[in-house]
Amino acid sequence: MTYDLLITNGVLVLPWGEVAADLAITDGRIAAIGINLGPAADILDAKNLHILPGIIDPHVHLRDGGQGGIPGVEDMLTGTRAAILGGVTSVFDMPNTTPPGVDAASLAAKHAYITGHAFCDVGLYAGATKENAGDLGRLEAMPGICAIKVFAGSSTGNLLVEDDASIARVMRAGRRRIAFHAEDEYRLLARKPRFKSGDGYANHAVWRDVECAFLGTRRIAALAHQAARPAHILHVSTAEELDYLRDHRALISVEILLNHLVQSAPEVYDRLGPYAVMNPPLREARHLAAAWAAVADGRVDTIGSDHAPHSRAAKEKPWPDCAAGLTGVQTLLPMMLDQVAKHRLSLARLADLMSAGPARIYGAVNKGRICAGFDADLTLVDLRATRRIENSWIASPCGWTPFDGLTVTGWPIATIIRGHMAMRDGEAATTPMGRPIIFRS
Ligand code: DOR
Ligand code: ZN
Repeated sequence: MTYDLLITNGVLVLPWGEVAADLAITDGRIAAIGINLGPAADILDAKNLHILPGIIDPHVHLRDGGQGGIPGVEDMLTGTRAAILGGVTSVFDMPNTTPPGVDAASLAAKHAYITGHAFCDVGLYAGATKENAGDLGRLEAMPGICAIKVFAGSSTGNLLVEDDASIARVMRAGRRRIAFHAEDEYRLLARKPRFKSGDGYANHAVWRDVECAFLGTRRIAALAHQAARPAHILHVSTAEELDYLRDHRALISVEILLNHLVQSAPEVYDRLGPYAVMNPPLREARHLAAAWAAVADGRVDTIGSDHAPHSRAAKEKPWPDCAAGLTGVQTLLPMMLDQVAKHRLSLARLADLMSAGPARIYGAVNKGRICAGFDADLTLVDLRATRRIENSWIASPCGWTPFDGLTVTGWPIATIIRGHMAMRDGEAATTPMGRPIIFRS
């Protein structure tokens, strides 16, 4: 038998450890792992490279509801091109789009739109509203849906389910793990009048303070227990939440954003102004230390970018009118590899958090592990390569990254999706070959 592609001379990051072995691909699946595997139509020499299971970014806002995105900012084509350039093989896309992904018709249309408009594989969140609670069980069972997303605190867009009774109704409406933006809306509203337009950008973290996040997470955990429904708290940002969630591991899983691991207040606000504004906010160093401790001891399940592109015009407004959200899908893996180079985590833990973790938490079928029979989604990285991240590299039309000018060690060299070469040596494929992801429902 002749394989389609043989990857030789690399180090495979397998679920059970790093192994120097070859990997064979046929029909988009991993066919074999070993040595002297036999003939192949194509050979990729991965000398000096590590082969990771395809990186999954479980938290992106591609700004495209299936009818085209936001001109000059982002759409599915540009956002997924950014993904493959950054070594990401799958993204899970948020529903705060036009039209919003909150009903069967719009989600079915967006699901159909993925083929032909995506460079990487795509899963879709279905958004919860106060009106659609009765439909959520059906929506979460639709093909391609990674999870229901609930904004319990308001952020970009107008999706919001903030009160306990409505959240409880949403919790009862399905059974899969349900994802929350947990900041407490009532505290956000109560504190807003303390500030005025033009106050410093660092006030973002004073307004949306630790208690906003902690209160929100405690409420969601309590409601999840009442409903006996597994929940995923997105972008956990405080030491207090991480400490509290220790006792809720059976039901509550945890996402941390790259930004909450590497960017700290007040320095980041002084340096980046509006380009440091996101929800939940970037916080002081003690929260970064707590986040790293949680990465180290296994309390974090997934790491995402919360890729949230906005135009420069929307960002460069006085606080609090500036848009909240930062680009990140393209820089997520380079930044995390740099953390590996700095010995903040191992490559094995990176693969667990950025591939196996999202596949496990959301139930993505045949993703997240280098195993025979799984999709041949692979991210080849050079752990020693040193590169400078620059705005000019960013594929999202908005054209900026909060990491502009930063030199990192560790870089994605190739992105392989179901056996297709999506990116090699910085060159992206020209044909979008992304497909909807299949989830266990
Ligand atoms: O900063 C953010 N931006 N946080 C969110 O929750 C939404 C996102 C966006 O869509 O812009
Ligand atoms: Zn988000």
